[in-house]
Amino acid sequence: MNNSEILKILYENDGKFISGEEMAKMFQISRAALSKRIAKLKEKGIEIEAITNKGYRLRSISQNICSENVSLGIDENQLIGNEVITFDEIDSTNEYAKKIAKESKEGTVVVSNIQTKGKGRRGRNFSSQKGGLYFSIILKPKAGIEKVPFLTQVSACSIYKALEDLGIKVKIKWPNDIILNEKKLSGILCEMSCEMDYISYVISGMGINTSQLKFDDDIKDIATSLAKEGYEIDKIKLFWNILKHFEYFYSRFENDDYEEMIDILRNNSSIIGKQINIISPNETSNAKAIDINENGFLVVEYEDGTIQELNYGEISIRKA
Ligand code: BTN
Repeated sequence: MNNSEILKILYENDGKFISGEEMAKMFQISRAALSKRIAKLKEKGIEIEAITNKGYRLRSISQNICSENVSLGIDENQLIGNEVITFDEIDSTNEYAKKIAKESKEGTVVVSNIQTKGKGRRGRNFSSQKGGLYFSIILKPKAGIEKVPFLTQVSACSIYKALEDLGIKVKIKWPNDIILNEKKLSGILCEMSCEMDYISYVISGMGINTSQLKFDDDIKDIATSLAKEGYEIDKIKLFWNILKHFEYFYSRFENDDYEEMIDILRNNSSIIGKQINIISPNETSNAKAIDINENGFLVVEYEDGTIQELNYGEISIRKA
């Protein structure tokens, strides 16, 4: 028996007291040993109330992700999150996931409270201070290589849905940003390792600004967090919920069934109908974003009337 099992019993008892005697019996340990284990859980920031003659009850599982609390709300039959590896601090969850991907089961998740070298797209840094949610999912899709860019959209839809469950309406800036009140709340970075015709693995990394109140000067005007926008949420429940939605959308993806996701992407796009810049390594072109097609490609119209469908790319909205 480990401390996570003690926490699981308290968690499943839904905030009600369980007597020390009953718990000690359940785990076949002495009440003194139980009390030591409870103290260890409390050291991790997990709030457990102890009252003489009543026993123990869970007040809060803590907002700090740790090995004891991370899996409590994940269904054991779920593929995504069946194994979760936690860190308090790491350079980048994507980098760690890449190191272990080959020998890990599909669905393994790496999550950290802080990243010291959070990676953004195109070699950029992703600010990953304490208070955010940073994780990477290891995937081994059966779908063809040409479909992999859509996994960014699978991730975006999962974040969108998990926030919608909390009553928070966000916009999706194709292909990889989640926008709240016109500012960036979350970014997604999918990375792939493949042979000529075979995907070895894909890492889907997601970073969500949950409770940070301050951002570095270079991003303070463009980034936001849920707390800054007035939403006090349970970060760990949000994490579980994103994984649950990812499980659902990923199975749709593997079955080539994009319809529901395309609806979400179209109906909640922050760029459709807007003038945008399409940024490629050598040039930036102006176009109007007109749709997201049935494959998740962004449909754009250039100033000369040419229409193009983009599978991936870097977009910025042009100021009027
Ligand atoms: C972007 O906005 O350019 C993408 C940001 C992706 C950040 C996430 S946080 C978890 C994972 N680990 C990383 O180093 N990056 C991704």
